[in-house]
Amino acid sequence: MTNLYLIGNWKQHGSRAAIQAFAQQWSFDANPRLRIAIAPPFPYLQTLGEELPDCELAAQDCSVYAQGAFTGEVSAEMVADLGCQFVLVGHSERRQYHDETDELIAKKLVAAQSAGVTPVLCVGEQQAAREAGEQEGVVRAQLRSALATIQPNLLIAYEPVWAIGTGLTATPDQANDMHAVIKQEVASLLGASHATPILYGGSVNADNADALFACPHVDGALVGGASLEAASFMAIAQSASYNLSH
Ligand code: 13P
Repeated sequence: MTNLYLIGNWKQHGSRAAIQAFAQQWSFDANPRLRIAIAPPFPYLQTLGEELPDCELAAQDCSVYAQGAFTGEVSAEMVADLGCQFVLVGHSERRQYHDETDELIAKKLVAAQSAGVTPVLCVGEQQAAREAGEQEGVVRAQLRSALATIQPNLLIAYEPVWAIGTGLTATPDQANDMHAVIKQEVASLLGASHATPILYGGSVNADNADALFACPHVDGALVGGASLEAASFMAIAQSASYNLSH
């Protein structure tokens, strides 16, 4: 394993006061092989960057357009201008509540790469698909349509929808098996010479992080609820750092 990635997705949570409190509590010995980023809501990117220079910045979404008359949209160029290294694309909440299609997601990936921001493509099956044993086909189809037109420089987050915010984590075996499937599909789509890191997301917390990071195909985590408090996010970061040194 070369690097681990830990990205906190604050979703629609946060305030300037919460960022200041988080930054005051944050104390973590940097590990050059562990990249830690936080994705706050757009209005807080600048404040977070100023208050917490130890963490990298991620955006939660971006427009397919660089600029124009698109009220309410934020471009990948704009988040790059604010210092974002990463942008989440195709999160299941965007797919579910904002009707984002595979076609739109493919365009957002291209937009992010054109702006020099590394996209984090989110994929994952619904509970019904898992119960029907169709999870592999669902995820392969998401990858095929999203990756049709992009360069190999991206991260992928496997987030089974049934594990998001539910306290139901995929078992280490379920996560590892799906990550192996994703790696194989990505290699066939983008070429085997590019190692694409695959993060797991879905109720990751300080108690289950060790077992997930120990999986050979798990290259990091995309963390929702447990990233909102510095203490729990630091505990997950410690777990990742420990895993890198053992
Ligand atoms: P939770 O960690 O709260 O389950 O959220 C996962 C997620 O959606 C991260 O993008």
